[in-house]
Amino acid sequence: MPARLFLSSGDMIADRRFEFARDLQLKGNLVAAADLLLQATELAPGFASAWFTLGQIREQLGEKDAAIAAFRNAHAADPGDRHGASLHLMRLGAEPVADMPQAYVQVLFDQYAPRFETALVDGLGYRGPSLLFKAVLSVRAAARKPAFFKRAIDLGCGTGLAATAFAKEVDRFIGVDLSPRMIDRARLTGLYSELEVADMVAALRGKPDASADLVLAADAMVYVSDLAPVLREVARVLAAGGLLAFTVETHTGEGVLIGAGLRYAHSAPYVREQVAAAGLKLVHCEDLSARNEDNVPAPGLVVVATKA
Ligand SMILES: C[S@@+](CC[C@H](N)C(=O)[O-])C[C@H]1O[C@@H](n2cnc3c(N)ncnc32)[C@H](O)[C@@H]1O
Repeated sequence: MPARLFLSSGDMIADRRFEFARDLQLKGNLVAAADLLLQATELAPGFASAWFTLGQIREQLGEKDAAIAAFRNAHAADPGDRHGASLHLMRLGAEPVADMPQAYVQVLFDQYAPRFETALVDGLGYRGPSLLFKAVLSVRAAARKPAFFKRAIDLGCGTGLAATAFAKEVDRFIGVDLSPRMIDRARLTGLYSELEVADMVAALRGKPDASADLVLAADAMVYVSDLAPVLREVARVLAAGGLLAFTVETHTGEGVLIGAGLRYAHSAPYVREQVAAAGLKLVHCEDLSARNEDNVPAPGLVVVATKA
């Protein structure tokens, strides 16, 4: 996991109390840590990192209401929500499932970037790009069309693993990612003609109609709650006969939920409905896991849709 985010309160004594509280938390003395954090927030009421950590400790102590109150304060103290307190509120059922704060995604992946590939590929057995590649090849083989694409867009491109998997089949890659540090890594691959630090929906809105033959999103839709806006834009940007290939994590209930790992899981019926609602045709939907969670494959889907 990336290093823990710390946002100074601007008050030296409050910051020091926070550090002591963290030491106590790491030693397992949660009650004393919570007391110290409360003292820190009395000194600095807008101390987001202290409120956030207090929320986590309250939850560990089984004090759900107090955890929710602390996460709410963390969010209020940092409206951009770099800690992702709102995601914990969603996970705890205190807020409806909604979009992920962009600042949280940026901070998370900026911190993650230097060790992303080792952590994901070696640590979590990440296989999203190769699953997408196999799915796209099989869809093209079934349609008796060559698996070659002139213009591709890689949504949530990260360090460029999907472009690496598709490198021989694509002429020109555009990569889009919210995290500048991930984009820096993607640039080093030399595989992208263009790289944009942007939200995927915003980036797609800036693209002309029918300007892409392939759109990929490998392990990126897990950071998007409502798939409708992105699928609608993909449908507009794809040329006739173009393909969209993406992975999601899934669950057996209804709609979209946020899991313990703070990623969204989309149910298979929800994915099918949203693909159809965007005017795309689902041509491949397979139960396949793109990564492990706690050493077991996280349930997932590999989806390919086409524009008629
Ligand atoms: C788990 S990584 C996967 C990276 C890459 N696709 C791969 O297969 O290795 C998810 C990436 O999606 C990016 N991301 C998340 N939400 C995004 C959004 N709304 N718009 C653009 N990028 C986003 C993150 O910054 C991160 O780099």
